[in-house]
Amino acid sequence: MSDNTTILGPDQWKAAGEHHVPPKLSKGGAPAYFSAWDLHAYYGESYIVQGVSFEIREGEILALLGRNGAGKTSTLRTIARLDEPGLTHGEVWLDHQPLHEMKAYEAARAGIGLVPEDRRIIQGLTVEENLQLAQISEPKGWSIERIYELFPRLGERRKQEGTTMSGGEQQMLAISRALARDLKLLLLDEPYEGLAPVIVQEIEKTLAQIKDLGITTVIVEQNAIAALNLADRAIILDMGQVVFDGSAQEVLDNADLRQEYLAI
Ligand SMILES: Nc1ncnc2c1ncn2[C@@H]1O[C@H](COP(=O)(O)OP(=O)(O)OP(=O)(O)O)[C@@H](O)[C@H]1O
Ligand SMILES: [Mg+2]
Repeated sequence: MSDNTTILGPDQWKAAGEHHVPPKLSKGGAPAYFSAWDLHAYYGESYIVQGVSFEIREGEILALLGRNGAGKTSTLRTIARLDEPGLTHGEVWLDHQPLHEMKAYEAARAGIGLVPEDRRIIQGLTVEENLQLAQISEPKGWSIERIYELFPRLGERRKQEGTTMSGGEQQMLAISRALARDLKLLLLDEPYEGLAPVIVQEIEKTLAQIKDLGITTVIVEQNAIAALNLADRAIILDMGQVVFDGSAQEVLDNADLRQEYLAI
C-alpha cells in the first residue's frame, strides 16, 4: 500500500473533503460544564454526525432540534458513548471528565443519564424494582424515597409492573431511573413521543420540576415549541451539522429559521 492511498472509512473523514472549522468555544473564563467539540461519528460506513460542537452551562436546558433524520438521536448516542454510532474524532467533556475516552457504562458512571425514546422500562419488574436496579452500582443519586416525593404517582404505583403503566408514568419512571444514578447531564430523546396531549402536559410539568431542580438537560423533541418553551438555549442540526446555536427565544422569534430547518 503506497503512502498516499486513501482508505475510505471512519478515519478518513478529512479525506472525504470535509473541512470543518469548529466554532470557537469557551472564550475565556472557566471551561464549560459540558462541551462537545467537533464530533464525528459513523454507523458502519455511514457518516452521520459531521463535526458537531456545542457547550452547555451547568443548570442549563438545551433544546436539540432538527428535522427527521437530522442526527439528533445519533448525537445523543455519541455523547453517551454507545457503540453505535462510533465516535472517530472529537472530544466530549462533562465536568472535567473526558467522555470521549470512555465506554457507555463509564460515561453513565461519570454522570450521563440517557432516556431513550422507547424508555426501556424493564418488563416483569415493578416500579420500585426498576429503580432499585438503577442503584445497583455506585455512584448512587437520589434515594427512592426522594424520587417518590418528586413523583408521588410512582410512589402510589411502586408495586405495579412498570410496563403496565401509562406512557406518561413510564416516562416519569425512565427519568427517575436517571435521577437514581449520580446524574450530571440528563439526555432526553423525545419525551413527548407517542403521548396523548393530556399526558404531554403532565410530562411538561415533570420537566418544569427538573428545570427547577437545576438539572443540566438536553431535550430532543419533534414538538419544538414545547421544547423551546422549556429550554434556555437551542441548537439546530441539519444533515449531521449544527446550523444554529443561540437562545431558545431567538428560535421562537425567528419564523424563517423555524420554517427552514424545523418546518414549523
Ligand atoms: N443504526 C443505524 N444505522 C445506519 N444509519 C442510521 C442508524 N440509525 C440512524 N441512522 C441514520 O442516521 C441519520 C440520523 O438519524 P437520527 O436517528 O440520529 O436522526 P434524528 O434527528 O434523531 O431523527 P428523528 O427525528 O426521526 O428521530 C438518518 O439518516 C438515519 O437513517
Ligand atoms: Mg431521533
